[in-house]
Amino acid sequence: MKIAISGKGGVGKTTFSANLARAFAARGYNVFAVDADPDVSLGATLGFPADELAGLRPVIEMKELVEERTGGGGAFFSLNPKVDDLIDKFSLKLGNIGFMRMGSVKQGGTACYCKENSFLYAVLNSLLLDKDDMVIMDMSAGIEHLTRGTSRGVDVIVIVTEPTRVSVQTARVVQKLALELGIRRVKILANKVRSEKEKDFIHSQFTEEELLGIIPFDEEVLDNALEEESGLLSGSGLMPGIEDLVEKLLREVTR
Ligand SMILES: Nc1ncnc2c1ncn2[C@@H]1O[C@H](COP(=O)(O)OP(=O)(O)O)[C@@H](O)[C@H]1O
Ligand SMILES: [Mg+2]
Repeated sequence: MKIAISGKGGVGKTTFSANLARAFAARGYNVFAVDADPDVSLGATLGFPADELAGLRPVIEMKELVEERTGGGGAFFSLNPKVDDLIDKFSLKLGNIGFMRMGSVKQGGTACYCKENSFLYAVLNSLLLDKDDMVIMDMSAGIEHLTRGTSRGVDVIVIVTEPTRVSVQTARVVQKLALELGIRRVKILANKVRSEKEKDFIHSQFTEEELLGIIPFDEEVLDNALEEESGLLSGSGLMPGIEDLVEKLLREVTR
């Protein structure tokens, strides 16, 4: 199963991605947490050691190695077995959570840019070798680099928003793009909700069908981000109500 997380900067995408990764890992899934946001922080939030993260090469650098193996023929789509050992080289492991970072692709609509993108998504698709594998992609709000082809494998996109007009506006833009791309399930998650008034605001903006859930603002989640090396996997930074959300998400995609 492949879950993409998007939304405006600072809304809680990385925190939610890490919470999901941990919750699925605790349920026995093999999880691949993928940092696809240029503002990399998922690895640290998951509790991977800083020195290991500093040494981790982005997946985009794998492209040349794959091309060497295939003679540059672009045949990597059928290469899953051969890419397997490369994936180990480009990822870190912590229990049953694997972590990798995509690396940034040159901006602009050049042919070269498209090729790199399809490469990245071919690698992502090759991660799903088992139906119990869970891929969680922490993305920025800029999902326009997704194409119909590359987003095909995404089972659900969760767009995180804060209870503010600006954040909701960004969520709407992402929602529209995601629907245009043909992503089957597009869900909104309201985060950092502090009051009944803010809750009402969210309900005034989104239908029950659109909403995956509402997560309250929680000092402990915030504190965790301030503590260095606290690491989500060590037990703190848990979003309130995350277990129910995970169950709902699982029901949603298997429906
Ligand atoms: N429910 C919450 N309550 C309080 N603080 C939160 C909550 N969710 C996220 N945060 C905090 O908000 C900040 C931004 O979160 P982050 O996950 O890095 O956002 P993004 O990845 O969308 O930029 C972090 O300091 C994080 O700890
Ligand atoms: Mg982030």
